[in-house]
Amino acid sequence: MFLSALGVPSDVKVGIVGCGTIADRYAPGISRADGLDLVGVTDLDRARADRLADARDATAYADLDSLLARSDASLVCNLTTHEAHAGVTRQCLDAERHVYSEKPLATSAAEAWDLVDRADERGVRLGCAPISLMGDAQQRAWRYFQEGRLGTVRTAYADCNIGRLTEWNANPEPFLRAGPLHDGAVYPLTVLVGYFGPVERVEAAHADLLLDEHTHEGRSFEVETPDHVVCVLRFADGVSVRLTASMYVPHRTRSFYDLEIHGDSGSIHLADAAAFGAGGEVEFARLGREYRRVPPGAPPRKLEYASGIAEMAAAVEVGRPHHANGTRAAHLVSVIEAIEACAESDAPVAVESRDVERPTPLDAGGTATALPPPATATTRAETGANAGSKDDGTVSMPPIGFGCSRYRGGDTYVDLRESIEVALDCGYRLLDCAELYGNEARIGEILARPGSPDRDALFLLSKVWNTNHAPADLRAACDRSREALGVETLDCYMIHWPDAWAHQGPLDDLADLSHEEATALTFPTDADGDPVAADVTLAETWRTMESLVADGWVETLGVSNFSIADLDELLEVAEIPPQVIQVGRDPYTPREDLVEFCEERGIRLMAHSPLSADGLLDEPVLAEIAADHGVTPAGVVLRWNVERGVVPIPSSTDAEHVIENADVFGFSLTDEDRDRIDALERSE
Ligand SMILES: NC(=O)c1ccc[n+]([C@@H]2O[C@H](COP(=O)([O-])OP(=O)(O)OC[C@H]3O[C@@H](n4cnc5c(N)ncnc54)[C@H](OP(=O)(O)O)[C@@H]3O)[C@@H](O)[C@H]2O)c1
Repeated sequence: MFLSALGVPSDVKVGIVGCGTIADRYAPGISRADGLDLVGVTDLDRARADRLADARDATAYADLDSLLARSDASLVCNLTTHEAHAGVTRQCLDAERHVYSEKPLATSAAEAWDLVDRADERGVRLGCAPISLMGDAQQRAWRYFQEGRLGTVRTAYADCNIGRLTEWNANPEPFLRAGPLHDGAVYPLTVLVGYFGPVERVEAAHADLLLDEHTHEGRSFEVETPDHVVCVLRFADGVSVRLTASMYVPHRTRSFYDLEIHGDSGSIHLADAAAFGAGGEVEFARLGREYRRVPPGAPPRKLEYASGIAEMAAAVEVGRPHHANGTRAAHLVSVIEAIEACAESDAPVAVESRDVERPTPLDAGGTATALPPPATATTRAETGANAGSKDDGTVSMPPIGFGCSRYRGGDTYVDLRESIEVALDCGYRLLDCAELYGNEARIGEILARPGSPDRDALFLLSKVWNTNHAPADLRAACDRSREALGVETLDCYMIHWPDAWAHQGPLDDLADLSHEEATALTFPTDADGDPVAADVTLAETWRTMESLVADGWVETLGVSNFSIADLDELLEVAEIPPQVIQVGRDPYTPREDLVEFCEERGIRLMAHSPLSADGLLDEPVLAEIAADHGVTPAGVVLRWNVERGVVPIPSSTDAEHVIENADVFGFSLTDEDRDRIDALERSE
């Protein structure tokens, strides 16, 4: 899949050395991934090699010499025990094969760097587990640094309590010999080196042998390597990290692979820095506020053990750096040696400085395409924020936005400040604003606070109200929205409704006015209670809208509450066509004709009021579908929009609802679900 997605025709032939427990986890991924072909296996124990070869339709070789001489594997996956890693890898590199090794790359830094040099000299790739940085949660957290939410990061606490191996590992001996640094600490260290670059110095370290015999259910193993290490690491960019790695503290402790990272403006917490599957909770807290869960903002990638090999093979094919690279693995061996030396000498120890390749985040482009596709099918789900162009020419935007209207019907308004903060904290990157909502200055204040996403991470949309369609009024309205939100350029600016009404003066901070005062300013009516129209045509209004693009005040133009007929009229006169339309859309009113009309013309559709139709969230059908997927009816409605390529913009005053509404990428609707939802459509 991943190679064909890159347009690379060839299969990469893979050999496995070491057919123990871990090989059973790698092998299915190697043969399943389109483009990787498991051709040969070998093990010191011939029976184990035969078993894996039979199960995977590969050839078993008597030894590594034969595999290298007789198989056509161009990439060897080294799954031998820790002490054997360096020797096996060296032999494969010398035979000019790419190598992907289980961790550690070697048990000494000198050997590890020698392997890096050999790979360079022979022009082959060297990769090494773990792939914890590639995990979905780790990438989600990474994005928060990149968006400036933590400010300057100064410290982190990393725990790896891998526990008593005798309790849960069938073959604990090599792990007990390697100790908790080589087999535990490398997971958070891989993530931290990815985020902050190499470690420069070990400031302090304490290594203890807390139990010289690890015993469980009659099995007993003598231990010589320290089983409990606490140290402080100084990273090259200044971050100081307290790392605890223990084979004494049970891995069922409340802190297993916890990673907490603290910056001047906020903190982020990963519940499992070692996870590379779809799991792994992320929480973010900006300074002074509580931690909020950060759900995946797109379908999570379900990585498996072989994903590191798959990504490396794809990188080889197109000649770009690969993620789980040998220089980082060798650096980690140097760091571990320095921790051990520091613990022994009781003095700071510098870490040998060599170039450490640092991958870019998977969603920043480039490498992302080389990984398995997102776990659940979805249409047009993206993770980008600012208005840019997608491959099909349509405007790119986050798949879900937060609705900032304070209006709740009748004369009811709600204060959304806390909800907007929660929305930003939990990962919404699209805010639907409008001058009519009266709270753009309040939103601007929130956006200016430390811990908010950088401007580039956001998609900000605003709308001109009906009373401001005349050229000078429209330009002034747009300028006020820019100033209130504190931005030079809006990602999208919309005509709120097609109707033009008589101007009533500027609409400043309507949230500070009473309902009556705000209504008088925004809904001019004549003696009969009808709206007072203004003498401005749609074509004139659009000309002014287009001037905003020319002036760099707005990136894209949109319309709201337009029918197909309104759009037809506009498309006749528009030099810059609308790229986004916002209309009310929910299962009662799916507007499929409009969705198709827009799809054919490359106009993105945004669903306003997706949840608020009377009785919608009490629909038994939605409750049943929600129960099937372990979500709420609101989640089903939002997912239904996302899967149709429509961007819903739900609103809420309830923090749990705000977070839950963003969490719709962990499931997919079935065809039957969709048929049942379609049947809810109301003809009126
Ligand atoms: N262009 C336009 O003319 C136009 C018109 C209307 C709206 N809009 C935009 O669309 C946005 C959303 O529309 P809306 O404000 O009408 O709200 P909505 O998102 O359709 O519905 C909000 C209602 O749903 C409830 N709710 C939200 N999440 C829920 C959940 N997970 N479970 C149960 N109940 C939930 C909320 O109650 P709680 O507060 O208790 O959660 C609130 O009562 C607006 O904020 C605005 O940005 C645009």
